[in-house]
Amino acid sequence: MSAPLRFAAIGLGQRTAAVLRAIKQTGTSFELVGYADPAPVGTAILAENGIAPGTPFADERALLAAGPFDLTLIGTPNHLHATQLALTLDGAGPVFVEKPIVRTENESYALATRLRERPAPALFVGLVMRSAPIVREILQVVREGHLGAIVSIDATEHLPPEHGAYLARNWRRKAEWGGSFLLDKVCHDFDILGTIAGARAQRVASFGGRGQFRLDRKVGGDVPAYRAWPGGWSAQDDVFSNDHDVTDTQTAIVEYANGVRLAFHASSHSALRERRWYVAGTEGTLIADLVRNKLMWRRALEAGAPVRHNYPVDEINHNGADVAMAQDLVDALAGRAKFPVTANDAIEAGLTVMAIDKAMLSGQVVDCAAMWQRLDTASGGLSD
Ligand SMILES: NC(=O)c1ccc[n+]([C@@H]2O[C@H](COP(=O)([O-])OP(=O)(O)OC[C@H]3O[C@@H](n4cnc5c(N)ncnc54)[C@H](O)[C@@H]3O)[C@@H](O)[C@H]2O)c1
Repeated sequence: MSAPLRFAAIGLGQRTAAVLRAIKQTGTSFELVGYADPAPVGTAILAENGIAPGTPFADERALLAAGPFDLTLIGTPNHLHATQLALTLDGAGPVFVEKPIVRTENESYALATRLRERPAPALFVGLVMRSAPIVREILQVVREGHLGAIVSIDATEHLPPEHGAYLARNWRRKAEWGGSFLLDKVCHDFDILGTIAGARAQRVASFGGRGQFRLDRKVGGDVPAYRAWPGGWSAQDDVFSNDHDVTDTQTAIVEYANGVRLAFHASSHSALRERRWYVAGTEGTLIADLVRNKLMWRRALEAGAPVRHNYPVDEINHNGADVAMAQDLVDALAGRAKFPVTANDAIEAGLTVMAIDKAMLSGQVVDCAAMWQRLDTASGGLSD
């Protein structure tokens, strides 16, 4: 029997704990040697799952000095990723960083430059939907050409009040910590949708604001749904306090470089949850319901019922994606398989969403050409 893998965590919050829980569910033997986190909110999840948190270290430098580790996981609020990643990439041992890989455009270019200039340990990014069984099938259907050439897409992400209130209460409510509503919540979707489109975003436009969680729209009294999810780091209690500056409602349109057009709509106080992708191709159409975990597609000119696949629903584990990603991570660490998403994919997904937010803030259509040119200069055109 091989020795347990030795892990370290920078930011032992709810997500790091959930990733460790998922790794345990793969049957992989590991030890969390230690962590750097001034107030680790994920320890309750670890305790529930029989995972010992290991030794607390004063900060990430002290933790990394006790390495090398088989994996260092970075699961801090998004504004901390860039500096913690830079430090960890200069050390030894593979790194797993949560999405969004970084929070700003300049951080994206700096990371791409760093990865080009000097060798770095293996870097895995928690774009967990890439590992979701339903997403794998969607990408396969597209890749195998069942839909023909992709023409247009519409996509949605409508969160229930519990989730919207969580975003309005915790660190994600501030752009300086989270980046934006879309960057934190749907960089996953823009990663996959860009892959389905088969090109980079060329022009984007967006409209958004706070449609729900603001003082003049306060509903009810002490509503339990608004406190249903644990707040996490730097959380506040009142979702209607106006102490937040990111949107809770946003629309976007994207034209990709190959002419594929996409419309996107997100909201955060929905009575009817939805995360849905509608993909229209020259020869077929696909609808994916990512909440109910159902997929159907059909060729336009063929008689007969659509192909339908229903996957198990498991809300706690992102409908099975968490354990699937954990298995992908373990396989990549063991050299058995390639991880399904690269750092460059994650940087591109983040930049796409940042361009959308720039369009919303400026009220202008944003042409992405200069952004991609800067990225290509920074990365030297590398795709991994
Ligand atoms: N892939 C996914 O589906 C998914 C889901 C949820 C969260 N996330 C990502 O995971 C990351 C963490 O989110 P979360 O929901 O766990 O947040 P959280 O608030 O639950 O945890 C954040 C943790 O970071 C710690 N922290 C704060 N400052 C720190 C510092 N300077 N050094 C070390 N630790 C510090 C906090 O004390 C807290 O324990 C974010 O990047 C988020 O976007 C990804």
